[in-house]
Amino acid sequence: MSFAELIEVANAYGRDETYSRAGGGNASIKEDGILYIKPSGVPLATLTEEDLVPLRMDVLLDALHSDAPVEGDPVRVAAQRALVRDTGRRPSVEILFHALIPQKLVLHTHPVVANALTCNENAEELIGELLGDQAIFVPYTDPGVPLARKVEEVRTAFEKRTGKPSPGITLLGNHGIIIAGDTAEEIHSLSRTLTTAVQTAIDAAPAAQVPSLDAEEYRRVVTHVSPALRGLLRDGNRLAVITSDCGDLARQGMLLAEGPLIPDQIVYAGSIPLVLETKGHDDLVTYAEQAVAQYREKYGKNPIIIVVPGVAVLAAGKDLTAARTALLTYTDAVRVARDANRLGAVRVMNQRERGFIENWEAESYRKKIAAGHSGGRLDGKVVVVTGAAQGFGLGIAQELAKEGAHLVLGDLNLAQAQVEAEKLGGRALEVNVSDEHSTKDFVAQICEIYGGADVFISNAGVLRAGSVMTQPVADFDLVTAVNYKGYFLCVQAIAPTMAIQHRTAPDVWFDIIEINSKSGLEGSKRNFAYAGSKFGGIGLTQSFALELVEDGIKVNAICPGNYLDGPLWMDPERGLFVQYLEAGKVPGAKTIDDVREFYEAKVPMRRGCVPADLATAIYYIVEQTYETGQAVPVTGGQNMLS
Ligand SMILES: NC(=O)c1ccc[n+]([C@@H]2O[C@H](COP(=O)([O-])OP(=O)(O)OC[C@H]3O[C@@H](n4cnc5c(N)ncnc54)[C@H](O)[C@@H]3O)[C@@H](O)[C@H]2O)c1
Ligand SMILES: [Zn+2]
Repeated sequence: MSFAELIEVANAYGRDETYSRAGGGNASIKEDGILYIKPSGVPLATLTEEDLVPLRMDVLLDALHSDAPVEGDPVRVAAQRALVRDTGRRPSVEILFHALIPQKLVLHTHPVVANALTCNENAEELIGELLGDQAIFVPYTDPGVPLARKVEEVRTAFEKRTGKPSPGITLLGNHGIIIAGDTAEEIHSLSRTLTTAVQTAIDAAPAAQVPSLDAEEYRRVVTHVSPALRGLLRDGNRLAVITSDCGDLARQGMLLAEGPLIPDQIVYAGSIPLVLETKGHDDLVTYAEQAVAQYREKYGKNPIIIVVPGVAVLAAGKDLTAARTALLTYTDAVRVARDANRLGAVRVMNQRERGFIENWEAESYRKKIAAGHSGGRLDGKVVVVTGAAQGFGLGIAQELAKEGAHLVLGDLNLAQAQVEAEKLGGRALEVNVSDEHSTKDFVAQICEIYGGADVFISNAGVLRAGSVMTQPVADFDLVTAVNYKGYFLCVQAIAPTMAIQHRTAPDVWFDIIEINSKSGLEGSKRNFAYAGSKFGGIGLTQSFALELVEDGIKVNAICPGNYLDGPLWMDPERGLFVQYLEAGKVPGAKTIDDVREFYEAKVPMRRGCVPADLATAIYYIVEQTYETGQAVPVTGGQNMLS
C-alpha cells in the first residue's frame, strides 16, 4: 500500500455519496511508526498526499492509555504532542482509533447502507447473523478518547474469545464503519462484502409504502411556508435560504422526531426537525410563525429541518450549500431509518448522547460561521435576473455573483442560461416572461430552490425597430408582450413571495428592479414599439412602487444607455447596428461603423454602457432604504432628468 493508493481509496469513497456526505469520514496510512492522516476540513474526495498530517503513533497510543489529566481537549493535546511536522492542518478527532488498528490502511466513513445495521436496537445480534466473525460491533460511544478506548476494548474481547486477530470490519453503533486492510484491494473487498450482506438483507424485507406525490400541496408549501421561514429563521438582516425536496425519501413519512440517528445528522441537520401539518391550514404564514415560536420555546434554538409529513422536507441554511447539506443529510437519515426498520428496529441516539454532540458541535460550528463571512455586498441574497442568458442580463449576473449573491438566471434560452449559471455557481431556469403560467412556475421553482428572493431584476426585453407606417403588428405585439406585459407578469408572480418575506422580516426591504432604457425617458425615432413599452415600464414602476411599499418592496427602474458592445447591438443578423442601418434610422449612414460612431458621438462620456455600470446602480438601489418608484439613468450623461 503506497501513499498514492491511499489517496485513490480516499478519493473514491469520498466521491461516493452513499459512503460520505459533506466531506465526512477519514483515512490514514501507517509507515515506520508514523500515522499519516487526513486533516479535518479537507474532504476525502479531494484529499491529496500533501494534505496528510504525520503523527507519531507511540505518542498517540500513550495518550490513549494514559489517565494523566491534560489541559484542554485530550485528543487535541495528544495530536499536538505527536505532530512530526506542522502542516498547518488540524488532524481529526478520530486519530486515536486509526492509531490502534494495526493494518496499514484505515478508512472510516458513514455509509447509508451499513448504518441501517449500526442504527439498530439489536445491531449486535443482526451483525452476528449477517457477518459472523467478519465484523465487530462497537456500541455508540462519545467521540474522541472514549470511542477509541471502546474500540480497543471490543477488539481485545474478540481476540480473547476467538483466539484470532480482530477482523477488518468494525461497525460503530449510530455512527459508521471502519475498514482496515493492508492493500487497496482488501479495502474494496471488505467494503463489498459488508455492503452486499446488508443490502441483500434489506431487500429481503418488505418496503414501507411511500405516499404519492401531492404536487399541489407541495407547491403551496414552497410558495408560502418557505418564504415565511426565510424571515423567521434569518440571521439579522440576512434571510435564510430554504431549500426543499418532495422525492421518495422526503415523503417517506419518517419524521425522526424522536431523535437523530448519527452525529453527522446533528451537526448538519440538527437533532430534531420541526413538523408542520399544513393540510387544513389556510394561513400557512401564521401557522409557520406559531410553529417556529413553539419550537424555539421547546428547544431553545431554530429548526434546521422542517418536515411536512407525506409532502416534503425543507431545510434552512445561511446559504444554499448549507441548506442542501442539511437536506441531504436528513434524507440520508430517513433512508437509514427506513432500512433499519426493515432489518429490525431503528435505534435513535438518546438525549444524553445527542446532548454531548450538540454542545461539542456548538463551539466548532460558531468558528465555522465566523470564518464563513466573505464580506460581499450581496452576501447570501437571492437575486433573480430574467433574460440572463446573454447581454445585459448575463453581465449583471456576472457582476453580482462577485458580490456573493445567489443567482437565478431565467431565460427562454435555457441551454445557454445553464452554461452561464454553472460558471457563476447559480441556477438556470426556463421562463417566458410574457406567459402567465411560465412566470408563476418560475417563481415556484425559485421558492423550491431558495425559498424566495431578495432582489428581482426584470431584464428580459426585445427590440423590433421600424417605421410606424410599415411595422408589422406582430412585431409591435411581441415587443409589448415581452417588455411591458412581461414586466407586469413577473411582478405579479414575485410580489406575493416578497410580501410573505416581509411579514416575517418586517424591517428588511426587498427590491424589484426593471431594466428599462433611456428610450423610456425620451422618444425613439423609428423605434416606437420599444420606446412605448419602456415608457409604459416607468408607469408600471411608479404605480407598483406606490402599492408595494406596504409590503416592504421597493420598485425602481434603471435606464441604461446603449450597450454597444453587447449582443443586442453586435449580432450580425438581428443586431441593432444592422436593424438601424436597414431602417435608415441614422441619416447618411452607409456602414455599421457609421452607425456605431453616430451613437458614440451622442454620449458626453463617449462610450457605450457596460454591465458594471448597471451593477453600480443596482447596489445603490438595493442598499438605500429611502427611495422607491424612481428611474435611475445610466447613460454617460446622454439623458438628463428634468
Ligand atoms: N442593449 C442595449 O443597448 C440596451 C440599452 C438599454 C436598455 N436595454 C434593455 O436591457 C435589457 C436586456 O437587453 P440586452 O441588450 O441584453 O438583450 P439581449 O437580446 O442581448 O438579451 C435578451 C435576453 O432575454 C431573453 N429573452 C427574450 N425574450 C424573453 C422572454 N419572453 N422571456 C424570457 N427571456 C427572454 C433572450 O433569450 C436573451 O437571452 C432589455 O430590457 C433591454 O431593453 C438594452
Ligand atoms: Zn465518524
